[in-house]
Amino acid sequence: ELTRFYDFKVQTKTITKLCSSKDIVTINGMFPGPVVYAQEDDRIIVKVTNKTPFNVTIHWHGVRQKLSCWYDGPSFITQCPIQAGQSFTYNFTVVKQKGTFFWHAHVSWLRGTVYGAMIVYPKTMVPYPFKVPYQEHIIILGEYWLQDLQHIEKATLASGGAPPAADAYTINGHLGPNYNCSTNDIYQLDVIPGKTYLLRLINAGLNTENFFAIANHTLTIVEADAEYTKPFTTDTVMLGPGQTLNVLILADQPVEKYSMVVAPYKSGRFIQYQNVSAIAYFNYIGAAPDNLYIPAKLPELDDKLAVKTVMDGLRSLNQVNVFKEIDMSLFITIGLNVQKCHSKTPKQNCQTMNNGVLAASMNNISFVHPNISILEAYYKKIKGSYTEDFPDVPPKFYDFVYGAPNNITYDTQSLNGTRTKVLKYGSRVQIILQDTGTVNIENHPIHFHGYSFYVVGYGTGNYNPLTAQFNLVDPPYMNTIGVPVGGWAVIRFVADNPGAWYMHCHIEIHQSWGLGMVFIVKNGKGELESLPHPPPDLPRC
Ligand code: C2O
Repeated sequence: ELTRFYDFKVQTKTITKLCSSKDIVTINGMFPGPVVYAQEDDRIIVKVTNKTPFNVTIHWHGVRQKLSCWYDGPSFITQCPIQAGQSFTYNFTVVKQKGTFFWHAHVSWLRGTVYGAMIVYPKTMVPYPFKVPYQEHIIILGEYWLQDLQHIEKATLASGGAPPAADAYTINGHLGPNYNCSTNDIYQLDVIPGKTYLLRLINAGLNTENFFAIANHTLTIVEADAEYTKPFTTDTVMLGPGQTLNVLILADQPVEKYSMVVAPYKSGRFIQYQNVSAIAYFNYIGAAPDNLYIPAKLPELDDKLAVKTVMDGLRSLNQVNVFKEIDMSLFITIGLNVQKCHSKTPKQNCQTMNNGVLAASMNNISFVHPNISILEAYYKKIKGSYTEDFPDVPPKFYDFVYGAPNNITYDTQSLNGTRTKVLKYGSRVQIILQDTGTVNIENHPIHFHGYSFYVVGYGTGNYNPLTAQFNLVDPPYMNTIGVPVGGWAVIRFVADNPGAWYMHCHIEIHQSWGLGMVFIVKNGKGELESLPHPPPDLPRC
């Protein structure tokens, strides 16, 4: 095993897109940021120095941080932010993990520009479980705004309403020919006829779930959330924010230029998407060097079937045989709701939302970030910043999906709180995630820190234990689950990683509205089952 060193300077950089220039926060002046490369079981050491006036943390999305919770990165969960002029060195091992990951800022909405890929290769001499591709390429999806994200975040949260849609979508930071002033801002992948390519797809976008396709080519999924899957061939994939997929593509079409496209899956009631999307080129070497391309077809907005088809196809490569007995079962509703107007809310916004502002919650609790890190408070036994009474079930059972907007009036306004759930070390946990909402039923890519989990079942409507079908043989092992819109998903994992772990919707605005909670996993018996001590340079709040 090797140690890989990286130097991350957080700095602003002027970039020009959509015919105008502005400063964005970057790592080392790069957008997207530098790629972190490693091999399974390597140690990764990244010194992050903050040369901006903003608070920063970096999260290594998908890395389970086995016995290294202090380096996980979510602000006020495992660490205080790295303040202006300060630095912090992340130092962790990618224990028994390999595949496509990414890293991103995990404070305010900074991850809108501060993100990059992280590729962990199998150990030397360990082959992929598929034919070696001719080349591998990273395809990282993002969003771009003309205004500063700091401003958009503040204005959105103060308004009580929904955020504006991104002004553009990006592929590897490029907008493509659909957008103004972008004819030279196109990502192009040059391919040789007859060769197979591995694309590492990452959705680093803030608020949008995206379809992805390549004109006239099929995609064979071989990995999801950095775990191998049974090969599954499809025309289109959908990636929620926080999801990664590896796909193989055989360049078996006539020598032409084909489009690789990204477009939103869901319109939502509050987010109006534009009718344009990012385009990149999948260009056969020898095709005419102009900007004419063969367009790709994507599913329509809200095409749930296209999403389900891919989800049904995701199976662990090998048999996994998930445990049958459960020590702890939780039923958690996830959804949007409304809270009473607060003093900072402008009047007109209040009136449009039934006298309230938009919020989001789990079991009716809107998560509020404390002002010191929960992990530190737990470790040092500092009282007062969080409680351990996150409810195991919602306050009442009802028709979560069909009944929600009407029979449930605003007595289901969520409560604000920093409530955690304590899990005993080694317990076998099942969580039923039920989508609901008193204002709108939306999609939620729910992401876990510190763990991957088996997705043993999912479906539409209300979860019904009598009819739910489970796959305990070869379910996918994921860290982000797109709970079907107006549906449910059941996940299982063994709580064998001590620490304080955030679980939240990876749609940034939902997270800001409170769609998250924290698990505290207690120590086991031995030293290798116990929380490590905090590093000396851990930032202070
Ligand atoms: Cu990629 Cu807490 O997130």
